[in-house]
Order: sequence, then C-alpha cells, then structure tokens
Amino acid sequence: MDVEKPLSIPPAQFISPAQFAQPESLKVRPLLLKPQWMNGLSERLLVSHYENNYGGAVRRLNAIRARLATLDWAQTPVFEINGLKREELIAASSVILHEIYFDSLRGHGDNPPSGAEEPPAGLAQALERDFGGVKTWRTEFTSMAKALAGGSGWAILAWSERFGRLINHWAADHTHNLPGATPILALDMYEHAYHIDFGAKAAVYVDLVMANLNWERIGARYRLAIGEGADEDKFFLPYGAPAQEEARISAEELKATLEGDNTRRPVLLDLCLPRDLPRRNDMLAGATMHAPAALSRWVEELPRDRPIAVYCICGFQVSGTAVTELRRRGYDARALVGGITAWHAIGGATVPLDTSTYEGTS
Ligand SMILES: [Fe+2]
Repeated sequence: MDVEKPLSIPPAQFISPAQFAQPESLKVRPLLLKPQWMNGLSERLLVSHYENNYGGAVRRLNAIRARLATLDWAQTPVFEINGLKREELIAASSVILHEIYFDSLRGHGDNPPSGAEEPPAGLAQALERDFGGVKTWRTEFTSMAKALAGGSGWAILAWSERFGRLINHWAADHTHNLPGATPILALDMYEHAYHIDFGAKAAVYVDLVMANLNWERIGARYRLAIGEGADEDKFFLPYGAPAQEEARISAEELKATLEGDNTRRPVLLDLCLPRDLPRRNDMLAGATMHAPAALSRWVEELPRDRPIAVYCICGFQVSGTAVTELRRRGYDARALVGGITAWHAIGGATVPLDTSTYEGTS
C-alpha cells in the first residue's frame, strides 16, 4: 500500500494514517512551477508533458495495480505476471522521475525565473566536494543529458549512500537506476519533453531546463536524501494554495464525489483572472465561472448548506485566496489541488468553456 502525502514530497515522518490511499490508487501531484512564467519553455510544452505523459503514467500505474489486485497469482501464466510486473515498474518509475523533474523547475510566485540562481550552500559544498565545483558538475551533467539526444532516457543527479557522494548517472529508460541511490534532480530526455518547442534541438532544451531550475527545492530534496531535512514541506506547497489540508480537495476525491451521491455533490466554482482567460478553453461540467475580484458580487449566490469546490488553472493563489475568504465567511469551501490541469491529468471529463457568467464580459 502506498503512503501518500497530500502534496509533493513524502518524508515518512510527516505522514498521518488519514493520508493512506487505496492500494490501487495513486494520486497525481500538482504542478509547483508556473507554466506560463518559464524561461523559454512554453506553457503548451510543459502542460502537455504534465497532463499526457506524467498523468498518463499515473493512470497506467493505477490500471495495472487494479489488474494485479484481482490476479490469481498461483493460476496466472508466467508471461502475464512478467508483463504486468514489468509494466508496473516502468509506470511507477516514470511517475516518480516525472515528479522530481517538474518539482525541480521554477515558477514560484508571479515572477518569471531569472535563471541566475545557484544551489544553496549545503548542496553547493557537496557539488564542490564531489565534482570539484558547481560549474564542473553542471558541465558533466549537461553533457550527459545532451548525449541522450536522439534517443531517450534521463540525466539524473543522485545521492548514493553506498558511495557517500552525489553522482551523475545516465538512464536509458524509466527503470534504469543505481540501486539505493536517491534522485535529487532528474532531467527528462524523452522526445516528448522537448519536441513541441525545439524539434530535434535537444541541446537547446537542456540549456533552458538548466536556466529554470528551482534550487530551493533541489536543495530541500538533497537535505531529505542525506537525512538532514526539517520543515522541508514548505518548499513543496503550490504557491498560494491553502495550507490546511481540510481546505483542499484532490482531483481524485472530487471526481469520486461528483460520481457519487447527488445530495453531496459540491457546487463547482471556476475562478480565472481576466488576463488568464485566453489560456482557457474548457471547464468542469456544471461549474460556474467567475472573476475572483468580483467575489463580493457572486458570493451571496452560494448555498451555505452544500460543499463548494473552487478551482483555477493550476491551483495556486487564485483558488487559494478565494477559498480562504469563503471559509472565513463560513462556507464549506475547498480548493482543487493542481486546478483543472490536475483534473486533466487524471483524465477528468470537461466541457467547452462558458464565460457567460463571468463578470466584466458581455
Ligand atoms: Fe517525460
């Protein structure tokens, strides 16, 4: 059985029994980067990668696990067991490496990343110790990644307990790894990670990923790997999302609720900043779209005897701020973790965008 943290990183000491998921069901984690604010990596590329490839791996893993849960192990042909266990490992490894990849990219807050940040002191010292410096590590890491161009795989920076050092290791597919080593940074070299923006120019993509690294999160992951992490959760909360777990709802929970008892069906609120309307083309069925700034105009229409699920594009401050305000006013409101982007990643159905209720539009 998986032990899931509600958001991003799973240090076991922070886990409560309430966070146990069903054995066959793994939840998607939200994007922490702001896809519209990256240096030279397009929103279209990043969101497609997250929804289709990462989300696809989560959905595939859950489907395989559901199949395995019903297997008569003693009677099943070995070729079927081999196939399912092989595919399970591939999907599980793909899920974890994609989460490390997306979490390692910047886009926190509303400011585009400058690309100028460097590793925090502890990690910089470790890179100095193990590679002779940050610059020499970077040259080795990027050269290793670029050498995968035209093929597929991962470039990985990992902490090896056995070797007592950080290592750069090559991976020809999702399941290639150094036993016992903990990935700190993973750079996706599958064609789907760059082809939309760069065609076959994988080297350009590698340099732009390096200009978008979130060293705060990579440093936090390093501290956790070497057993020196404390209070690292704050680095893995989506910007502006409600801090309290009871003020959030996962895409999987929302889907189950909408498919269940009609009397417990939440009111769905779709919030979007005016500047973000061009980024939208669909919505959840039954949702009503509003401008966050017009809250005082639409809040009185909300029922006080039903739960309210609020979502925005990625589940950052737009839904987070509104949910905080709604809860302050006594409404049972929760923010959709990861927004409609996470909803897409779990394969949730949508309908064409309806802006007729949006304040400020005709
Ligand atoms: Fe990928």
